[in-house]
Amino acid sequence: MNFSIVNKKADRGFVLPAIAFIILSLVQCTPKHQVVSSFQAGTTADNSKKGLKDYYKSYFPIGVAVNMASLHGPDSALIVKEFNSVTPENDMKMGPIHPSEDVYNWKNADDIVDFAVCHRIKIRGHNLCWHNQEAAWMFKGVDGKPVTKELLLKRLKDHIFTVAGRYKGKIYAWDVVNEAVDDSDDTTQIYRKSNWYNICDGPDFIEAAFRYAHEADPQAKLYYNDYNSEHPVKREKIYKLLKKLVDDHVPIDGVGMQAHWKLNEPSPNELRKALDEVTSLGLKVQFTELDITIRLPQPKPAPGATPGATMPPAPDPGYTPELEAKQIAQYKMAFDIFRQYKKFITSVTFWNVSDRYSWLDQRGGGLTGGAAAGANTPRTVRKAYPLLFDENRERKNAYWSVANF
Ligand code: G3I
Repeated sequence: MNFSIVNKKADRGFVLPAIAFIILSLVQCTPKHQVVSSFQAGTTADNSKKGLKDYYKSYFPIGVAVNMASLHGPDSALIVKEFNSVTPENDMKMGPIHPSEDVYNWKNADDIVDFAVCHRIKIRGHNLCWHNQEAAWMFKGVDGKPVTKELLLKRLKDHIFTVAGRYKGKIYAWDVVNEAVDDSDDTTQIYRKSNWYNICDGPDFIEAAFRYAHEADPQAKLYYNDYNSEHPVKREKIYKLLKKLVDDHVPIDGVGMQAHWKLNEPSPNELRKALDEVTSLGLKVQFTELDITIRLPQPKPAPGATPGATMPPAPDPGYTPELEAKQIAQYKMAFDIFRQYKKFITSVTFWNVSDRYSWLDQRGGGLTGGAAAGANTPRTVRKAYPLLFDENRERKNAYWSVANF
């Protein structure tokens, strides 16, 4: 092989896309994507120039889940300063982006992609197949009865080709399938009995989704994404799924460990064990939805209480110094281990920007999730304070347990 030609091609192969990306960034920086306000993150001036992404530039990208409010408000300055990756919180999910067979809602998803391209921020796509916020029409035939497996997989393929195809070259990694593993302690149940599983009469839709995504965008990195991936029972179920995909030569690059964690979960050993198992398969890891709630576990009904009896919610202590200290310790433990596993970890993304809004903020009436409640929901919000920035978008002490190492 004439290496000089190869090298020239290789150079052109690198240089041209880079030039295209810069031009694209300039073209897409419309005024609406300029950051809002002269927000200066950080309380200590000597650090105000650096953000999380800078502290971790020799480790892995640091990302954040975004929505329309965060892109077009004061969050935007913090996002650009602190992060170098974004994930749409909701706007690329099947239901929101593809509400009926012939309708795609591109506006919000395009806005997020344009913002990221404008600010040269990486983009994780989330997600191509999930049992929640699903496109309900996909499961119904013309008669309203469940569709056949063949028709469902055709619809899934069309969806993935359309969405992943649209953002080819812009979205570098996809959460292809989200939360397909059963959550119970029943070790015989590997898979969640979702519409996907039931209509396909098994997990074939998982492999199919990955193959469709790879066909739609061969350059994209493809992830299986799930939560509680450090809990021993679920960890083993996820391992079995991943091993099957790897053994069947399914195009998968890694696992997304969502990392919706608590003050005392996971333990360092549970986190290391999960990382060691997954990476033993040759897969990469991305922590995709990191937050650490200070919410105390709800009290369990006393033994002998009537089944289904609900307990009054635990008193809401607010963000006390004691809870803050535990959160600082848990964030420090997590990032100490993340840095030790840096050769396997290719991204760490926080789920939401600051304590001002978190999907975890519980409201009265059983609704959970800041976004879940409508404008008129009784706002007895029980905040979770799960992130590194407080309600005023200022760096919390927990920020420095992550940045100072
Ligand atoms: O857009 C509608 C709005 O029109 C309506 O008025 C309002 C009230 O009903 O609901 C709005 O939709 C809400 C949506 O967020 C957008 O705000 C949904 O009800 C609400 O359920 C949805 O919550 C999202 C949740 O996923 C859905 O399960 C959260 O914002 C989002 O943070 C959360 O994210 C998930 C990840 O995608 C997967 N991993 C778990 C994580 C937390 O559940």
